[in-house]
Amino acid sequence: MDTIISKIKWNNEDKVNSDSDDSKGSKDSKDSKDSKDSKDSKDSKDSKDSKDSKDNNYSKNNKEYIDEILNKAGEFIRNGELVAFPTETVYGLGGNAYDKNASKKIYEAKGRPSDNPLIVHVCNMNQVEDVAENISDEAYELMDRFWPGPMTVILNKKDIVPDETTGGLKTVAVRMPDNPIALGLIEKAGVPIAAPSANTSGRPSPTLAKHVEDDLSGKIAMILDGGEVGIGIESTIVDMTEEKPVILRPGYISKTMLEDVVTGVETDKGLVDENVAPKAPGMKYRHYAPKGEFTLYKGEPDKVVNAINSEIEKLLASNSNKEEVSTDEIVESPIGDVESSIGDNEKLSVGRKLKIAVICSDETRDKYTWNDECCKVISLGSRREMNSISHNLYRVLRDLDDMGIQYIFGEVFFREGLGDAVMNRMLKAAGHNIVET
Ligand code: TXA
Ligand code: MG
Repeated sequence: MDTIISKIKWNNEDKVNSDSDDSKGSKDSKDSKDSKDSKDSKDSKDSKDSKDSKDNNYSKNNKEYIDEILNKAGEFIRNGELVAFPTETVYGLGGNAYDKNASKKIYEAKGRPSDNPLIVHVCNMNQVEDVAENISDEAYELMDRFWPGPMTVILNKKDIVPDETTGGLKTVAVRMPDNPIALGLIEKAGVPIAAPSANTSGRPSPTLAKHVEDDLSGKIAMILDGGEVGIGIESTIVDMTEEKPVILRPGYISKTMLEDVVTGVETDKGLVDENVAPKAPGMKYRHYAPKGEFTLYKGEPDKVVNAINSEIEKLLASNSNKEEVSTDEIVESPIGDVESSIGDNEKLSVGRKLKIAVICSDETRDKYTWNDECCKVISLGSRREMNSISHNLYRVLRDLDDMGIQYIFGEVFFREGLGDAVMNRMLKAAGHNIVET
């Protein structure tokens, strides 16, 4: 199948991007609501619009153009086809939540086990009540406070939602995304949209349309390219079907933020104890994984740096020994691929046998003095700005794959809040391969 890729440049894009904005939960939700409400009524001939039209090479004005694309995308959804779309967290792969065959197609396109339920995306509260019942007051309070936004709530499912969508569970995960393209698509489709992250199962979630294209091109009807997403890691999942709210997956909306609204918030034991099965079926799988061997180092920053540097030294030394014995071990160096997939100043000189990378922070970057040819040193951002760390994480993991990196060393410097969510993803990416220094 030919996948249609449509670029959409939304005028309020800046406000949707949450990077380095700590107050996102409340502020951006409002902005997004505003943009949604005013979407059809706003004068489309204002100067900003015509500038965007030029930027995008549109002959029509931008609003009409977006409308046309979303109509087409909505039609695909209604006809049982799949459409990938941006949200404020990661790109989603959407299908009609009421259509069991669409859900089957989603599992197939992703190569995902069908016992792993999908999140149902809605654009208004009526749709929540269409898919869920016996909703508690606390659940309403959370939705009221954090929607549209990066929070998914688990509610009791109504029969209209097929078992295929919820992996046979009697509960349903529901989320109202804070992205005008996502909300516009759901509105045009006229049905709630079931959507997991739009990656091949086991790969890092997509934060750019290009990532979706890499994984799913030819397998789905359409990709809505809304540019790079803001938050970069998946939504917080809160189970609201038990006596107390339970966090099943940490995300941008932290435990503290939830406790501001409801009392007694707990964290699923399966997230912290490897011997307990996580309640969100998806959390048991090794997700977010890059192809290289990924090891995390935890401890005092200097000790971590020393431990990583000495591991790299050992690797390089053992590799140069091998070189004398045999040339069969030489790993291919796809120079063209590498150079085209990374930026100019990030160019990795290839041609060596080992490809090693360190994922660090701005604060420690200079302590890794490796020549690019031996080891690629990549900072995720400053330790003081978790927003940019979470924003960059998955893209960096995918870039490492594109560069053919075989060994990845990562620093652990995350704490509470969003840092906890980033840590959760890093640990999964590294298959819980962690060294205490
Ligand atoms: O930010 C996000 O949540 C993104 C965007 C696209 O909205 N979506 C996303 O979906 O991350 P996915 O399918 O990659 O992750 C859904 C998670 C899985 O771990 C799944 O097991 C869990 O939600 N889940 C879904 N329904 C559930 C339910 N009824 N009970 C418990 N866990 C559920
Ligand atoms: Mg996923």
